[in-house]
Formats: sequence, structure tokens, C-alpha cells
Amino acid sequence: MKVLNINSSSNRENSTSTAYAAKVVSQLKDVYTEVSVLERHTTYSDLPFINEAMLASLFVNGERTEAQVKALALSRQLVNEVLEADVIVISAPIYNFSVPASLKAYFDLIARAGLTFKYSESGPVGLLEGKKAYVVVSSGGVEIDSDVDFAGKYIKHFLGFLGISDIEMIKLDLLMFDAEAKQETANKQIQELQAK
Ligand SMILES: Cc1cc2nc3c(=O)[nH]c(=O)nc-3n(C[C@H](O)[C@H](O)[C@H](O)COP(=O)(O)O)c2cc1C
Repeated sequence: MKVLNINSSSNRENSTSTAYAAKVVSQLKDVYTEVSVLERHTTYSDLPFINEAMLASLFVNGERTEAQVKALALSRQLVNEVLEADVIVISAPIYNFSVPASLKAYFDLIARAGLTFKYSESGPVGLLEGKKAYVVVSSGGVEIDSDVDFAGKYIKHFLGFLGISDIEMIKLDLLMFDAEAKQETANKQIQELQAK
């Protein structure tokens, strides 16, 4: 089973969300046999924002030129990593009510018409069906799924747009109020992860 672990906290040494994503991965290794893990850190991968060269290369009639293929090379590589994964483990702290900018940049690079979603007569259709996602979100004072959560709900919506509907949220929110209780609940939830 192939696991893609995407972490996005800028805190490299002591990140709660990254640590809990690692616990999910470790549990998956216990539950499944032959688990391979590819880890991506969005903040430390030098991900570009969508630029003019990329835009000009995304929507072309016919074959792309060599330069256009090059402009989309990283996007294509990231898409391939997602396509190959059976399970995706995403971790994100809430930064200013939303996801870290690097995670948004990553999402911009993997949302590709014809590869990860397509347009149909009834609207966009996700092409990543059959994958399972575990989403770890940490926060100080914002409650996940509340009106001011533009991180957890956004990640769920984005994954759904790409066709991933089997999503398990691991909530490490409101850590400034009762971190211990949240961590205990999350630990229990992770220990109970079973094979699908
Ligand atoms: C730049 C920055 C912005 C933050 N913005 C918010 C916020 O809008 N709402 C919130 O509840 N917590 C906010 N926090 C707190 C973090 O979400 C919280 O400390 C989280 O547990 C950090 O996760 P990590 O340890 O994985 O980095 C912010 C923290 C930082 C560093």
C-alpha cells in the first residue's frame, strides 16, 4: 500500500500536526502489510505559485511544446505522486483561519483538469476516487467545522472536488484551551484505525 504524507507546518522541530500525521502513518504500517511512504513537506519543497508560464501551458490546443511541458513538470510530478497513492495523510496547522500558504500552493499544483478532475455536462468530476485520506488539523483557538474554520472544511471540500470522499479527520483543534484532552482523543482515534 502506498501512503503519501503531506505535511505543511512551518514548525520543523516541534509541530503537533506533523507529529500526529506521523502517528497515523505509523499506525497504518502496523495495520497493513507492505506499506511504502512518500513524505512531502509543502513549506520546504520550494513550491511555486501558479505563474504566467504555467497558466500559458495549462490550457493549450494540441500538444504542449517542450517549454510548456517544462513549466508544468513539477505539477505533473506532484500529480503523479497523488495518483499513485492509495492513502493520503495530510497535516495542517490553522494559520490565520486557513491552511498554510504552502499547502494552498500545493493544492493549486495538483488540481489539474484531465488528470485529477475533469469537466462533465453536469459539472466537475473528481478523478481520484477509491483513495482514503486522513486529515490532521491543529489549531489554537479556532474550532474545526465552526463558522470561522476555513482550513479543515476547505481541505475536505478540496479533496472531495478531486473525488476523495473517504476522509477521516483527526482534530487537534482548540489546543490553547485543553491540549491534553484533544491529544488523548486523537491518540485513541489513531490507535483504532483499522484496515479498510
Ligand atoms: C502564523 C500563525 C498563525 C496562526 N493562526 C491561527 C488561527 O488563525 N487560528 C487558530 O486557531 N490558531 C492559529 N495559530 C495557532 C496554530 O494553529 C496552533 O498553534 C497549531 O497547533 C500549530 O500546529 P503545528 O504545531 O503543527 O505547527 C497560528 C499559528 C501561527 C504560527
